[in-house]
Order: sequence, then structure tokens, then C-alpha cells
Amino acid sequence: MNTATTDIAITKAKTSKITEVDFDNLTFGKVFSDHMLVCDYKDGSWQAPKVVPYQPISLDPSAKIFHYGQSVFEGMKAYKDANDDVWLFRPLENFKRLNISSKRLAIPELPESYFMDGLKTLLEVDKNWIPTKAGSSLYIRPFIFASGKGFHASPADEYKFIICTAPSGAYFSGKVKVLIEETYSRSANGGVGFAKAGGNYAGQFYPTQLAVAKGYQQVIWTDDTNHEFIEEAGAMNIFIRINDTLLTGPTSDRILDGITRKSIIDIAKAEGIPVEVRKITVSEVVEAAKNGSLKEMFGAGTAAVVSPISGFGYQGVDYDLPELTETYADKLKKIITDIQTNKSEDPFGWRVKL
Ligand code: PLP
Ligand code: COI
Repeated sequence: MNTATTDIAITKAKTSKITEVDFDNLTFGKVFSDHMLVCDYKDGSWQAPKVVPYQPISLDPSAKIFHYGQSVFEGMKAYKDANDDVWLFRPLENFKRLNISSKRLAIPELPESYFMDGLKTLLEVDKNWIPTKAGSSLYIRPFIFASGKGFHASPADEYKFIICTAPSGAYFSGKVKVLIEETYSRSANGGVGFAKAGGNYAGQFYPTQLAVAKGYQQVIWTDDTNHEFIEEAGAMNIFIRINDTLLTGPTSDRILDGITRKSIIDIAKAEGIPVEVRKITVSEVVEAAKNGSLKEMFGAGTAAVVSPISGFGYQGVDYDLPELTETYADKLKKIITDIQTNKSEDPFGWRVKL
């Protein structure tokens, strides 16, 4: 990454919490590094970002985030290699998507330098927080929310852009069993499904709780019209292998354009795996499960990386996936994490050094 050009004031924490952290047993997103980046939008423009100690924030009870949910976020990771060099994976894609999300939520777009230089400065300050153990990384959470006051249901006049980071281990501890959703919808045409808007996740919690009560870990969302097409997993895009072909649905108004998803598609193609990006019907997946041609299902996302699915439930019937010795999921996960962590060549030019 180029040297930061934005002037970013740094206030260091008086004491570090790093010695309290068990880096060998990290869970996902539960402990937070010493500092955060904060940038305020007021008087019609984004003010200079600054790095400050990680701390609670004070907001007016009428702040519009609380009432109208005007908020967007991103998810990224930083990796440290054996030489202590720090790497990011396609960070510009996160920046661009944050602004795509912001635009849909009527949040003012952020200048690229504030995001990229802010991120770089924050990571340099908290470099020691980046775990090195295989499977762990520093999870990075950039987010923007409406801090402006008032009950009028209209866009706020003030916003906060914050980046905080959390040394993290795996998002899921093992394979996940999923339920194909037939009643609730995550998103609709013309809606905000393609945006990384906080409310998209809130809307998933109740249907997911119902699925969890039935013994599943995740919901597979289907289209809102007839629940006929497989669309997305809770916080992941979804891939399905039928015979030797890898399928994933096309992005749309309703589906997040995942950076892991598009990277997996490119890697799979480069590996000679037949890939089809097309609408996938629930009925073809059920049929494939019945006739034995359904080989694998897995989710893909920054937090979850590549997460194999052990089976799915649909209309009261559970379908188990076969236990294969060699899977596309394992192969693709290894290739993408080797690129991310600087363990292999990066033929796609995705890795960015801090
Ligand atoms: N779909 C949803 C709803 C998500 O929340 C995520 C996570 O970010 C993804 C897909 C995967 O996107 P990415 O690979 O960019 O993290
Ligand atoms: C990510 O994969 O980074 C996400 O944002 C998913 C999140 C909801 C945990």
C-alpha cells in the first residue's frame, strides 16, 4: 500500500490490553485491539480521520441510527506472514462496496484516501494485534452510521465512520447444517440485499433463531417471490457442487457481491474446475441430493472463509451430503488462504502489502 497521505492524528492508549489476550485460543470478534479509527461527517463533509484508543462512544438518544437503522459496514482481514509482513486482501473492493452500500442508504460517500490511509495508519499502530497462528487473522470492521439527531424520518446530517479490529479465529467451529428457507425472505428486488446494511442482518436473526431451534446453524435464503431459487447463506455466498460442476447464483439486487465469492470463481476456473454462475433451483438441488449427484455445498465469505455444509433441511426432510476425501471446498480454501497469507504466489494480484 502507498504511504498514507492523509493527515491522521494518533492518540495512543495509555496501557495496552494485549497481554490479556489468549492468542492461541481466539474466537471470532470478541476481543478488540487497542485503537480504532474515527472520522466524523458534519457540516456537509467528512472531517479528518484520527486514531484514538478503543473506547465506548457517546450518542444522543435521538441519533438516527437508533430509529431508522441508517448504517453500513464492511468485513476484511489482515494477515501477518512468517517475516512479520502484513497483508490485506483486495481492500479496494471493500472500499468500493462500502460506498455502494452507503449510496443506497443515503449516507454520504467516503473519500478513498480516508478509508485506505485510515486503515493503513490504524493497522500500523496495532500491528502487534495481528495473529500469526494458522486459521487466525485480524478481523477488520469498518462501519458508518447516522449519528445525527432527530426523529424526522430522513437522512441524518451527521455520521461516524469507524474502523475497529479484532484478532479472531474461525467463524464456525465445524461443518454447518443449513435449512432452506421457505417462508421468510432476506431481501427483495429493489431492496437493500446487495448492500452491507446492518438491517439486513437484524432481519435474519429471527428466522435463523427458528432454524437453530430445529437443529440447523444457518438459513439458506431463497428468492422472495416463490422461494424457488437458492440465493445466499446467512453471512456467506453459497456454492454447490453437482457432479464435478461448481455452481453459484448470479449477484442481483438481493445478493451481496461477495469478494470471496468472486475470488473463488476465478480460482476455480484457473484450476480447471467447471464453474457455472446461474440461477440454481431448490428442486434441482433436492433432486441431486436424492440421486447422489450432489457432492458438496459450501459457504464463502471473509469471516467464514470457505465453510463446508454437512447437509440441508427442506420441507421437513434432512438431506446429508457425502463425506468425500478430496473436496473442492478444501482445495479452494487452501488456495485462497495461501494467497491471503503470502504462502503462495498471487497470480491474480489480489494481495496488498501494508
Ligand atoms: N453474503 C453476506 C450476506 C455477507 O454478509 C457476506 C460477508 O461479508 C458475504 C456474502 C461474503 O462477502 P465477502 O466475501 O465480501 O466477505
Ligand atoms: C464478513 O464475512 O466479513 C461479514 O461481514 C460477515 C459478518 C456478518 C460476520
